[in-house]
Amino acid sequence: MKKILVTGGTGFIGSHTVVSLIEAGYTPVIIDNLDNSSDLVLDRIESISGARAEFIRGDIRSENTLNELFAKHRFEAVVHFAGLKAVGESVEKPMRYYSNNVEGSIQLLKAMDRYDCRRLVFSSSATVYGDPVSVPIKEGFALSATNPYGQSKLTVETMLRDLAAADERWEFTLLRYFNPVGAHESGLIGEEPNGIPNNLMPFIAQVAVGRLEKLSVWGGDYDTPDGTGVRDYIHVMDLAEAHIEAVKSFKPNHGCRAYNVGTGGGYSVLEMIRAFEKASNCEIPYSIEPRRSGDIASSYADPELCHRELGWHAKRGISEIMRDQWNWQRKNPNGYTVG
Ligand code: NAD
Ligand code: WQD
Repeated sequence: MKKILVTGGTGFIGSHTVVSLIEAGYTPVIIDNLDNSSDLVLDRIESISGARAEFIRGDIRSENTLNELFAKHRFEAVVHFAGLKAVGESVEKPMRYYSNNVEGSIQLLKAMDRYDCRRLVFSSSATVYGDPVSVPIKEGFALSATNPYGQSKLTVETMLRDLAAADERWEFTLLRYFNPVGAHESGLIGEEPNGIPNNLMPFIAQVAVGRLEKLSVWGGDYDTPDGTGVRDYIHVMDLAEAHIEAVKSFKPNHGCRAYNVGTGGGYSVLEMIRAFEKASNCEIPYSIEPRRSGDIASSYADPELCHRELGWHAKRGISEIMRDQWNWQRKNPNGYTVG
């Protein structure tokens, strides 16, 4: 059985990817410090897949923890999700982001080097395109950061490119996710952000179950068909499956490759509200408010390169996204809390 180290594997995207890895015949081993996740996820993954993933509660910045992990297992590759992702918090606490995201990645790469494991899939983000000149966004577009979170992703991307250029034994795949949403179709795992959600989809779902009163739509005057922001929402299980293709595609002289992981189309905030209402039969009260600082009008991927080179494309559409988002929230109105 091929072992894969999954950092951040109890988190939102990590947990769904662990399920896909097990289904694809891999043996995932998870390291997570549970900073933004619950170990109850492990029971849920087992219920879905029938396999218990080995779990180490630890921080990727700890050299000792990583040494123990790599000494015990021989990993085929590392899928690296561990990191912090709240844009607003990154502006207030930049060092927390550089420490977890950049320093954490450096410690991980050092441990991989020590133990002769040099294949890594990195969770990058469409945020590395900053404010793109046009849509759809292609991998060759200029890269820039508009906040410390984005800068931390860009810094790790640069580091990986430099490392692959300096030493051909390294093989890196950078997956630039657009807007991951939805949940596993069982409704057993899904997204449960700490505190009030920053992202649109969990916010809408929490309004539907009565945890939040109403949605603020940030901006109704963008240059988009209905004036609200347009994004490329990708089902988390499609995203999980992209990681399987990435792991399978490593080969000598792979170098460092970056791929957009999106659907190739976009939906506006108002379209998302309507689609959720249709799937859930719940009304989502909202009001149009001023624009949120740092937001752009429109962002969606050109996913052609990922299709051509990894053989991956998104299979699930907006109705599956809304069905699964609602199924997860309805069955777990308070996330992973017991009782
Ligand atoms: P998440 O917060 O649900 O998962 C991240 C996991 O990493 C959490 O379980 C957290 O406890 C763990 N973690 C954080 N710092 C750690 C550390 N130092 N050591 C060990 N574990 C640590 O987030 P997610 O949505 O699953 O995102 C996964 C990755 O994908 C992140 O790197 C994120 O930046 C990136 N990404 C996410 C999105 C998105 O919208 N969700 C979009 C693009 C990129
Ligand atoms: C989507 C749309 C908002 C909340 C962020 C990060 C990005 C990536 C994904 C990690 C926008 C609107 C939202 C609300 C709203 N993460 N909105 N009311 O901003 O595209 O991307 O998450 O890498 O880096 O920046 O996603 O879900 O926050 O917003 O009107 O309460 O919904 O203005 O148009 P975003 P989002």
